[in-house]
Amino acid sequence: MRMRKKKNLESRLNACGELLTVAEPEVKDRRETPVKTSCLELGALFGNDDPVYMEVGCGKGRFACEYAAAHPGRNLLAIEKSANVIVAACEGAAQRGLENVRFLKCSAEYLDCFIPEKSISGIFLNFSCPFPKKGYAKHRLTHRSFLAIYDSLMLPGAEIHMKTDDRGLFEFSVEELSEYGFTLKNVTLDLHNSGFEGNIMTEYETRFTEMDKPIYRLEAYLKD
Ligand SMILES: C[S@@+](CC[C@H](N)C(=O)[O-])C[C@H]1O[C@@H](n2cnc3c(N)ncnc32)[C@H](O)[C@@H]1O
Repeated sequence: MRMRKKKNLESRLNACGELLTVAEPEVKDRRETPVKTSCLELGALFGNDDPVYMEVGCGKGRFACEYAAAHPGRNLLAIEKSANVIVAACEGAAQRGLENVRFLKCSAEYLDCFIPEKSISGIFLNFSCPFPKKGYAKHRLTHRSFLAIYDSLMLPGAEIHMKTDDRGLFEFSVEELSEYGFTLKNVTLDLHNSGFEGNIMTEYETRFTEMDKPIYRLEAYLKD
């Protein structure tokens, strides 16, 4: 089911100004060769050369804004495919006057068409849609096809940090990451009782925590 467009969506998107970039791929079928014609210039986008971290599937942007506020020497590029949702994220960031967060409306399938190779210092996957039906596994953001895209964008030493409440997605992700060649570390099946410090809560994390659900978390990196 498609979500109805929010009222005044176009004008609200336009009002986001430099906070928001809308990226539409020229080729909409990944079986065809993706076109890499309009790469973002990350230095120009943020107005500095600080390292760029990326959150894929940022929702309404709470994590992205909190992360940017907590890390003034880093940039956070927040990716979201839904216009209805990303517009709220941009408006929240604008209200806070954050300089080091930018939003890219783009499906993760096409990130390598727009983001320069080997330019990203770390990736956050927070409460990605679990797509529990077996036939939908290729839509999960830790499916090997997405891992290949992230790999092409990640700088040496960059890490993927993932959190979810969904055990099935977590187990799938452990398998996909391991088979791809990632090494896992700091794996926990109960983040909030693990002693982990510096956790930044997301919208979904708050919701699931209030339901007393454990939060699964891992970090993954590729060896040189
Ligand atoms: C369950 S929400 C979680 C939002 C937020 N990260 C949080 O933790 O509160 C997942 C978000 O990922 C977005 N998403 C799902 N698949 C995506 C894709 N292929 N590319 C970009 N965004 C995607 C959805 O539109 C949705 O807003």
